[in-house]
Amino acid sequence: MQNELEQLKTTFLEALEGAASVDALEGLKNEYLGRKGKLTAMLKSIATLSVEERPAAGRVGNEVKTAMEQAFADASANVLGEKEAGDLFDITLPGTAPQMGHLHLVTQAIEEISSLFAHLGFILARHPEIDWDWYAFESLNIPKIHPARDEWETFFIADQASSEEDSKVAEGPKGKIVLTPHTSNGQVREMEKGDLPIRMININKCYRRQSDITHSPMFHQFEGLLIDQDISISHLKGTLTFFAKRYFGEGREIRLRPYHFRFTEPSFEIDISCAVCEGSAKVNGKKCRTCKEGWLELGGAGMVHPNVLKAGGIDPDTYSGFAFGWGIERTLMMRAGINIDDIRLLYKNDLRFLEQF
Ligand code: PHE
Repeated sequence: MQNELEQLKTTFLEALEGAASVDALEGLKNEYLGRKGKLTAMLKSIATLSVEERPAAGRVGNEVKTAMEQAFADASANVLGEKEAGDLFDITLPGTAPQMGHLHLVTQAIEEISSLFAHLGFILARHPEIDWDWYAFESLNIPKIHPARDEWETFFIADQASSEEDSKVAEGPKGKIVLTPHTSNGQVREMEKGDLPIRMININKCYRRQSDITHSPMFHQFEGLLIDQDISISHLKGTLTFFAKRYFGEGREIRLRPYHFRFTEPSFEIDISCAVCEGSAKVNGKKCRTCKEGWLELGGAGMVHPNVLKAGGIDPDTYSGFAFGWGIERTLMMRAGINIDDIRLLYKNDLRFLEQF
């Protein structure tokens, strides 16, 4: 029996040497190692030997089997080049899906907000995010030394020629150069285009020297501006109500609260009814923890100040208009279902966060 096994191995090894193709290898595998192959048959017949003969035959059987399988694997590797027989490319396997990216949360909001205002005929504009003092402040009825400027913690651009200790602010034909602290710089720029009436939505990056859980030094605002004849506060309220209901949900309401901005008169803070307590300020008889008073502050608005219209070359006796503007990040975070406890997470580029949206 042992001799027969050794003999089988020798024949198999010789045959393997002559096998130069995958088909030939497959043939040999079936003939010798397969379920109905010669080796398998021989190993089975060991069971028919006498009890004395069996152990020795079994041992040789195992050695021969291992040697033949190893020789087969080596021969396959030779025929297939670098690859192991098991590495053959299987074209029937499903493919590996490439990782799909998606738009950033803020970009999604920008697209949604601009398309909502497009329904009312507001045209998307993009005014500079690095601008002259004139557009960011002076043309908006905020003179150079006016204390109202303090509210907009502004970054100024340093003059290249100045030293670090004695850094001078760069200036251009219309004043110092700033990173715009709000999108209102687009108001007079839009008027200067000279086309009336105006229905503009200006979305851009803004910069203020602030960083905490509700402020990021770079953020986004959207600014609406409408200038036409006979425009009143009710047009403003109608526009903002349309936006609030479409963006936040049909049940939400808008409230105008008197406020002060230099570039609008009268001016308002815009509040939206809280989604959690539905404007009642109470949840199960207790004070609502989200809003405390039934309303949440969205941003500023008002009727365009006559001085601003004049700065843009528009006659305030014939035309009037309204403007509104506030942060995209804030608006996004206030939408029901999105609960982000630190605004700066939006800009950390952490995929574990971003992939959730
Ligand atoms: N620009 C103001 C701000 O950043 C908001 C505003 C825009 C107010 C338009 C009135 C009109 O706070």
